[in-house]
Amino acid sequence: MATLIGGLGTSHIPAIGGAIHKGLQQDPYWKPFFDGFPPIREWLGREKPDVVVMFYNDHGLNFFLDKMPTFAIGAAAEYHNADEGWGIPTLPPFKGEPALSWHLIDALVEKEFDIVSCQEMLVDHACTLPLKLFWPDGDCPVSVVPVCINTVQFPLPKASRVYAMGKAVGEAICNWDSDKKVAVIASGGLSHQLDGERAGFINKAFDLQFLDSLESNPEWATQFSSHEIVEKAGTQGVELLQWLAMRGALTAAGPRVRRLHTNYHIPISNTATAVMALEAA
Ligand code: DHB
Ligand code: FE
Repeated sequence: MATLIGGLGTSHIPAIGGAIHKGLQQDPYWKPFFDGFPPIREWLGREKPDVVVMFYNDHGLNFFLDKMPTFAIGAAAEYHNADEGWGIPTLPPFKGEPALSWHLIDALVEKEFDIVSCQEMLVDHACTLPLKLFWPDGDCPVSVVPVCINTVQFPLPKASRVYAMGKAVGEAICNWDSDKKVAVIASGGLSHQLDGERAGFINKAFDLQFLDSLESNPEWATQFSSHEIVEKAGTQGVELLQWLAMRGALTAAGPRVRRLHTNYHIPISNTATAVMALEAA
């Protein structure tokens, strides 16, 4: 059976792609953000996952407001970046893992999660940036299964539902008939609000409590409604639901996780940024 080795989370601001393209990793504005990654890359270099399952939200690229699935899973052989253009100008397509995609789709539908299956899927900065941040050099060494969770247009799935969906994904990874090593990634957050009267809103106390909860009390955030999460983390900070799905998946690998590394930095653009790695115990 496949092995679920751990989970990673990172923020996904489009401007990060521009900074990568321009080589600004040591620039004083960017350094505190990029400095969060080397310890995690070291762990990835040792553990060498073959496949990643990426929990992320599309930002109006593959799904626009007229058709918004709550949960969608990519089942393509490759994924092309078609972002809005602030990021990395050219990126080769990322390799898919259709066998795992279909295994996840089958398992989730069997567990009564109504999944949109996507044999073609364009991806944006939320899917491409984590791959470039965790594997900056050369071709991306992992294949990808994108799992898109709507955090963009209400009604959003409840935190408890997202956690349960993540759990079902983790269970399916662990019973996938394959000798591959799989990691789960969450892309989004943490607190930020890009629009409206509260534009620029950041909530450090909530973010830090949320990050701590992922290690020791993963169900903590499932007490909140989506509106409460928006209130606490901002209209786009609700992307932290992606992290809850990632943590839900890890419950399938064992009763505990070991926190390998966290970095939290305010701000990049309008966002409180975080990166974290959790090893399955
Ligand atoms: C920003 C953050 C996001 O999550 C996003 O998708 C786009 C922009 C920002 O802070 O600029
Ligand atoms: Fe976003």
